[in-house]
Amino acid sequence: MKRDRCSIVRGIDRQIMSSSYDRDTDFVYGGGKGVYLFDCSGGKFLDFAAGIAVMNAGHSNPEIMNAIRKQLSLGTHAAFPDFYAETPVLFSQTLLSLLPSSLNSVFLSNSGTESVECAIKLSKWHSRKKWLVAFSPCFHGRTMGSLSMTNSKPVQREGFAPFLPVKHVPYPYPYRFNGSEEECSNASLNAVEKVFKKLGGNVAGIFFEPISGEGGYIVPPKNFARGIRKLCNEFGVLLCVDEVQSGCFRTGKFLAISHFGVEPDILCMSKSIGGGLPLGATVANKKTMDWPPSSHSNTFGGNLLACAAGKAALEFMGKKNLAKNAERVGKSMLQRLSEMQERVEIVGDVRGMGLMIGVEIVESKKSKKPSHDKREETLKKCFEKGLLMLACGKNVLRLCPPLVLTEEQAMKGLDVLEQALKEVR
Ligand SMILES: Cc1ncc(COP(=O)(O)O)c(C=O)c1O
Repeated sequence: MKRDRCSIVRGIDRQIMSSSYDRDTDFVYGGGKGVYLFDCSGGKFLDFAAGIAVMNAGHSNPEIMNAIRKQLSLGTHAAFPDFYAETPVLFSQTLLSLLPSSLNSVFLSNSGTESVECAIKLSKWHSRKKWLVAFSPCFHGRTMGSLSMTNSKPVQREGFAPFLPVKHVPYPYPYRFNGSEEECSNASLNAVEKVFKKLGGNVAGIFFEPISGEGGYIVPPKNFARGIRKLCNEFGVLLCVDEVQSGCFRTGKFLAISHFGVEPDILCMSKSIGGGLPLGATVANKKTMDWPPSSHSNTFGGNLLACAAGKAALEFMGKKNLAKNAERVGKSMLQRLSEMQERVEIVGDVRGMGLMIGVEIVESKKSKKPSHDKREETLKKCFEKGLLMLACGKNVLRLCPPLVLTEEQAMKGLDVLEQALKEVR
């Protein structure tokens, strides 16, 4: 009887919801607690997806829920873009306290793509230049501005042209580069320099994910971000860093870009900063974010519930030092996955930082041929065994659990993954 409920929901969903939704598994959300999710038939799953890297503080976090309840009793919507309100200001103060001091001016929105749209507009407004540069693969969202840069899967762009003027350059992908990490980094840096030169001083901004997310959880060589920073300084291009997925303590620091000793000119954040509610933030220096009233605004940005939840989430993650936990548990997971890589032929590469980990599935180690089908099969088998995971890139398993994950829970999840991989190979 109960099991019927999940299939009834799926059945109605397939009839009335947009065919563009793409579900990797049959999971139907019924609720969540900590690192566990429940389907609407009461099935329990260990969650290595965190609602697409959103639930960093864990599902149904009591401190976040209480903050939402408290705000709910006062009101939900203040139309912050047009009226002053305390909750969004307090949220923004908390966010700024976690960022480099050069980032001191905030624009609030409701999603990752909106945080990127704001950065696009700001980079153009501030520089009065035409072109944007982005990487391939990269993902910055699906509204027309951010989609003009997104270049991860062909289906995301097909049929939507014309786009904004954007030039794409290769993201450094060490596993798929024929040469050393340094050569890999230099090849991409040379491509960036060439484009900057070709566009003759008419580049507003370059958009960069410190770890390529949807593109395949690709960790660039260590010196790459510094190289980009240097080129931006040299050519007067704004460095727009997209931490929508990699940010918020996930990699062991609040921002992933901090691992590389680089500061952005414009920063895009969303997903986990809202503690489970829709919230986006674009942050820059006051001298860059110097546009006049009404040049950019919205209706829901600074939503009271989202900001109350976000403030509680940031405070919780800071207080519990989830950055440290992400670093520690992530390290153990990478270690265990590297051992698995040696034993399992279809595991081509294992990479990541903190709890942002990618496992690249191939036909064989020797051929390195990407195996989309084996990745899909692995995801399904994991789901059947009670582990929820997402995909990224063409053939990569994406491991982005809530940052409250313990080492014991992590190893249990990896036991399931290893079993699934063995059955698939
Ligand atoms: C790096 C990055 N930027 C932007 C976005 C777009 O965010 P949203 O789906 O909230 O619009 C995403 C979404 O996955 C992302 O990973």
